[in-house]
Amino acid sequence: MRAAPAATAVAHPNIALVKYWGKRDEGLVLPLADSLSLTLDVFPTTTSVQLCPTATRDTVVVDGRPATGETLRRVVGFLDVVRARARRREPARVDTRNTVPVGAGLASSAAGFAALALAAANAYEVTLDPTALSRLARRGSGSAARSVFGGFVQWHAGPPGADDADLASYAEPLDDARLDLAMVAVLLRTGPKPVSSREAMRRTVATSPLFPGWLAATRTEVTAMRTALAAGDLATVGAIAERNAFGMHATMRTAVPPVDYLTHASHQVLDHVRLMRDRGERTWSTMDAGPNVKVLCPAADAQRIAAELGEITGCPTVAARPGPGATMTTGTCS
Ligand code: DP6
Repeated sequence: MRAAPAATAVAHPNIALVKYWGKRDEGLVLPLADSLSLTLDVFPTTTSVQLCPTATRDTVVVDGRPATGETLRRVVGFLDVVRARARRREPARVDTRNTVPVGAGLASSAAGFAALALAAANAYEVTLDPTALSRLARRGSGSAARSVFGGFVQWHAGPPGADDADLASYAEPLDDARLDLAMVAVLLRTGPKPVSSREAMRRTVATSPLFPGWLAATRTEVTAMRTALAAGDLATVGAIAERNAFGMHATMRTAVPPVDYLTHASHQVLDHVRLMRDRGERTWSTMDAGPNVKVLCPAADAQRIAAELGEITGCPTVAARPGPGATMTTGTCS
């Protein structure tokens, strides 16, 4: 008897240097602007998709526990997208193992949906090149489009009036980046966030008076960031990344009602990173939808900076380097 197809994939989180914050289409997950990120070599997520032809519904297990609520709904919705493309109907069992705390602003959904997209496409025998895979991953979580690729990656929003908007929005690796940098993650708190990033993003776009200004700046910053990466200009890369992240947090803090992911401890790290810079270190901060701060620095300084930030916070730190794109760990078996 032939076993039902199964596939396992692994993907890593990415941290945006120019952020994705705001959608123009919720259903297709189309962003309002391009974003640019670095895929890390830490915190991989491994996801298996096993087709279950005799089952009546999908089963989703995250870190050994059955998923419920919004997580289950999003994964099943994503499998429906893959099934529609494959013209197949079999339910599946999805088993995901994270090595990063979920929902803490450490990009678990980016790694998770990139791994799920690759595993599900293989299990349902949908043939996709990496660009098409990034479009598919985008449907699960926008930032997942970027985790399909390693290193520096740009996610193209696509022109608003494009005939096929889905086709026009994809991620692409940036091969001309000339920087040997690291990102130190300071793990201040690892519990789930009070407001999901999806809801915070929606609320910000709808209500923050600062959002249009940040969006306009972001469009310019993507181009400036590409130029700085190609020139190997770390000071400009760091300055743009920090400004863009502070701007994004200003938009959500001025939403109605406001969203503030940063804690007292986050501000302590942000202040310390500025102090380090004042004394000559090359360090810049970035923060996502959670309290944890990520610090951009030269690769050669990463261990020293991680140790210092660990000492002042009393929290674990991880020095990450550029990491790989999503890969299969097990082929389709039959
Ligand atoms: C702050 O990709 O998690 O990390 O598309 O709604 O699933 P959805 O959002 P998600 O948003 C990530 C936002 C961010 C910035 C970024 O990664 O660019």
